[in-house]
Amino acid sequence: MHKNIWHPFTIIKDAPEPLKVKSGKGAYLTLEDGREVLDCISSWWVNLHGHSHPQIAEAIYEQAQNLEHVIFAGFTHDPAEQLSELIVQELPKNLNKVFFSDNGSTAVEVGMKMAYQYWKNIGQERKTFICFEGAYHGDTLGAMSAGERSVFTDVFKEWMFDVEVIPYPETWIDDEQRAGKEDAVIEHLEKLLTDHPQKYAGILMEPLVQGAGGMRMCSEEFLQKVHWSNRQFGTLLLFDEVMTGFGRTGDYFACKRAQVQPDIICLSKGITGGFMPLSVTVCSNDIFESFNSADPIKTFWHGHSYTGNPLGCAAGIASWKLLKESEAVFKGMEAIHLKNFNQLKGHPKLEKLRVKGTIAAMDIINDEETGYLNSVAKKIKETCVDHGLLLRPLGNVLYLMPPYCVTDEELEMIYGKVSDLI
Ligand SMILES: Cc1ncc(COP(=O)(O)O)c(C=O)c1O
Repeated sequence: MHKNIWHPFTIIKDAPEPLKVKSGKGAYLTLEDGREVLDCISSWWVNLHGHSHPQIAEAIYEQAQNLEHVIFAGFTHDPAEQLSELIVQELPKNLNKVFFSDNGSTAVEVGMKMAYQYWKNIGQERKTFICFEGAYHGDTLGAMSAGERSVFTDVFKEWMFDVEVIPYPETWIDDEQRAGKEDAVIEHLEKLLTDHPQKYAGILMEPLVQGAGGMRMCSEEFLQKVHWSNRQFGTLLLFDEVMTGFGRTGDYFACKRAQVQPDIICLSKGITGGFMPLSVTVCSNDIFESFNSADPIKTFWHGHSYTGNPLGCAAGIASWKLLKESEAVFKGMEAIHLKNFNQLKGHPKLEKLRVKGTIAAMDIINDEETGYLNSVAKKIKETCVDHGLLLRPLGNVLYLMPPYCVTDEELEMIYGKVSDLI
């Protein structure tokens, strides 16, 4: 490990030497030792169109020659305006006010703060969020509070605030219990909302796929039921689409696929195609209007130095154009995953095969406890590089989330190798 660098999510003692990457092109990364690996996880789920895509690189270069950055309070610029318009066009109609920040955690933090303050601005005290078991929303304190409590958050537990946690009805192909699990969760949710109608500031969830929690998937119908409960009881629905946004679940956004209108949506990761750190939190006009006051106490006092960075926005616009061009690919990838599942179906070491758009996942059966620290992850991570694949299982959950430039033949090859590896 380099003497001056501290890597994230890394148990320092005895950590294997990080692999040095020299370059990236399309779906492939080239390591310093000359090996090539196919990036099956889009480099922490950010890369949509392949590495070093010339159109995004060019857009950043051109923007950098014109305006690299400007304070976003009291100033604005074309790239931010254009990007906000492009994103809003594909979001549900009620979502139209875009607040910029620079990573997924802050997008969620902003969403939670907006929801909390919305109630205060309209004269109500609603402090608690309803969140889901297995959730991950990021590493800032609010986002951590809303996520699953685990070894990752334990040290900070005195700093975090309480949320109400309900089960996530995870499901998979051929799951016969799905409807029963969903009904039980909705009953639980509605009981909370009935017993304490004024208590909850919002329901926060990762729609369709919980990412870091193990690529746990739920159905579109479940989201529609949550949406209906939210409407009936008049609270706010917050979708953390930091990972599921920009085509990942087979439509532009998971809320579109499920035909559900949240009140707040948080987006990051794929927003710039993996080139620049950027995020947005988009809210409804109703929420925005509660802040539309001359009273400083009703103002949203939040911002970051790099808010609305023009280079990030330029990358976002270029990435959005490519996303439009690859609509058929991200909409069609689910069928390719499903076809390739035939190579794995019935494998004695695999269970809970599942797919949502471009994301496919499965649990590897071993005799250890399911979870992030399951040792199968380390073994696969190390072995797969020698087989030309970049995979990073979440504990015993193996998943594929390739960039949209991956070919059908490459996907077939990945599945073949995965089957051998297991
Ligand atoms: C659903 C979700 N929300 C929030 C985050 C946090 O994003 P970031 O790592 O950019 O802070 C992540 C990151 O994995 C995520 O998957």
